[in-house]
Amino acid sequence: MSRIIYVNGRYLPHRAAVIHVEDRGLQFADGVYEVFPVFGGRIQNLSQHLARLSNSLAALRIAWPVTRAVLPLLLEQIRQRNRIADGLIYLQITRGVAPRDHAFPRNPVSPTLIISGRHIDMGRRAEQAARGVHLVSMLDQRWSRRDIKSVSLLANMLAKQTAVESGAFEALMLDQDGYITEGAASTFWIVDRDGTLVTRPLSEDILPGVTRQRVLNLAREKGIRVTERKIHLDELAQAREAFLTSATLFVMPVSQIDAVVIGNGGPGVVTDTLRTHYIENLGSVGGGG
Ligand code: PDD
Repeated sequence: MSRIIYVNGRYLPHRAAVIHVEDRGLQFADGVYEVFPVFGGRIQNLSQHLARLSNSLAALRIAWPVTRAVLPLLLEQIRQRNRIADGLIYLQITRGVAPRDHAFPRNPVSPTLIISGRHIDMGRRAEQAARGVHLVSMLDQRWSRRDIKSVSLLANMLAKQTAVESGAFEALMLDQDGYITEGAASTFWIVDRDGTLVTRPLSEDILPGVTRQRVLNLAREKGIRVTERKIHLDELAQAREAFLTSATLFVMPVSQIDAVVIGNGGPGVVTDTLRTHYIENLGSVGGGG
């Protein structure tokens, strides 16, 4: 199937979807992005992703390229034109095109808006979730405003590549003190040795994951004991369970981190419960619109 991509007001075939060489996204990674999950033919968690996009734009002082009210219509157009039932919609906004200068352009320029979509093989995701994935830990080398969903992803990309080259699914990034920040493109969780569900508290150190918030709410609804605190690498050997969350992974069990096998080496009970309920609940709160 040919892919259709939205670029600055036009729906274009994949090969014709191009931006200017002096786009500040290309020259400075001066832009932000969002990944919206699509499941069962619906864009999920729409309002939460738009709220985060609003924060990212405000942090970089980039204007909305179209009104916030119009954006969902464009996202849905891309979903429909590419016939995506299960997958993702990718949105990127850069400051726009201007002669290269580190400072913001003096005269206002129109931000660049790109929207594309992709199918995800849910069968393959389910197979991975049935086994649990492997992670490798490494130093988090990103900048200090990781709460902004910026397209400046060099350190994330290098971390993920290191993980892939060592046969792992994802990188697990550590701060200078050996505490886990997050995955290269995911939020990290454990069920600790006391049976408490744990994830790192929000700060400028991590991205405020939309899936993270939904899973926290779900865990509380289900009466699972939850705490937001930092997790040290040394604690993983005693962890009962571990998992990742993101727009595209939902809840993904982790079976091994470096040489440490987590729990019994397969998905744990709490993880499985959360994965099942998360998928069942998709679309019921703030999904679709
Ligand atoms: N990544 N942390 C980082 C660094 C991420 O890049 C992501 C998402 C998350 C999870 O956030 P959410 O639950 O809102 O998807 C955490 C997306 C999927 C990506 O870059 O492709």
